[in-house]
Amino acid sequence: MMAKLSREQLNNGVICSSAGNHAQGVALSARKLGCDAVIVMPVTTPEIKWRSVERLGATVVLKGDSYDEAQSYAKLRCEQEGRTFIPPFDHPDIIAGQGTVGMEIVRQLQGPLHAIFVPVGGGGLIAGIAAYVKRVRPEVKIIGVEPSDANAMALSLCHGQRVVLEHVGGFADGVAVKVVGEETFRLCQELIDGIVLVSRDAICASIKDMFEENRNILEPAGALALAGAEAYCKYYGLKGETVVAISSGANMNFDRLRLVTELADVGRKREAVLATFLPEEQGSFKKFAELVGRMNITEFKYRYDSNGKEALVLYSVGIYTDHELKAMVERMESSELKTVNLTDNDLAKDHLRYFFWKTGSI
Ligand SMILES: Cc1ncc(COP(=O)(O)O)c(C=O)c1O
Repeated sequence: MMAKLSREQLNNGVICSSAGNHAQGVALSARKLGCDAVIVMPVTTPEIKWRSVERLGATVVLKGDSYDEAQSYAKLRCEQEGRTFIPPFDHPDIIAGQGTVGMEIVRQLQGPLHAIFVPVGGGGLIAGIAAYVKRVRPEVKIIGVEPSDANAMALSLCHGQRVVLEHVGGFADGVAVKVVGEETFRLCQELIDGIVLVSRDAICASIKDMFEENRNILEPAGALALAGAEAYCKYYGLKGETVVAISSGANMNFDRLRLVTELADVGRKREAVLATFLPEEQGSFKKFAELVGRMNITEFKYRYDSNGKEALVLYSVGIYTDHELKAMVERMESSELKTVNLTDNDLAKDHLRYFFWKTGSI
């Protein structure tokens, strides 16, 4: 799209809003084309992302809590300053540019290909890939992958119209978009085969897998497709098929790695998060410890109830098999210690981790 701009447009400069890698693409193109670029990013953007944009010579403005707020501000400045707005996903030229990823895959993989898994934010990448691949290899499935708390495309496809999310999870910040594009939605409705939703823990587990196998560290949005491919292959029992998962970004803030390593074990079901209610009476904690037995406690919080009847113990245990976890919960229950498995409850896990690490940006 930028290569098509006239000299006059280039002289007036460009502006874009981006929660992800689009910012770096625009900054690099502007440098190559010799034009001034302003990039508006949400205030929540990891430092590693806006610093790399600055390094490419663009002016970074951090504005708004979400991508959509950053976009409104960028459009306003675009009108005031006569710059050209370079949209991150909802434009035929941007979509066509993203389609070159599909072209590269098809050229490099001549043999049978079952599916391509693509991370989805506003839908530009998947729309471009689908438009190209379905034309030349219509048998290849194109599957989108979204975080379960940023599922604007899945909901829109389900309702047959674009749905605006009230809240959008920011963990995979590169794809944290409240509403997908008009053109990207139209293309996805027509061309893609489905969407897989994945949890934050599953994304973390995929980041870990990628590191262990290739020594690459992906950012959450960058590991999304891998997590989706894994879930899909497991669900359909796929074996011996070729699938491609697009690992789209590696802008991982170093501080975030601690949370990722914590959650990766939960994602692989090597750790379970539990809550047990203990009567406030002598010996009940000792009984609890005995019932935990040889299980390894990895986190622990004891909350005394002010009415003095019951305490809540929030804790995590390392697990090797589902059976040993089930057996421990049964031991608790048969000793009348009510126990709830919170392993799939993100709020409880955030609370536990915040208590320990005071991690503000979960
Ligand atoms: C890391 C990453 N993955 C994937 C995407 C794809 O997003 P979209 O669906 O908006 O094209 C982006 C967009 O910026 C991104 O930053």
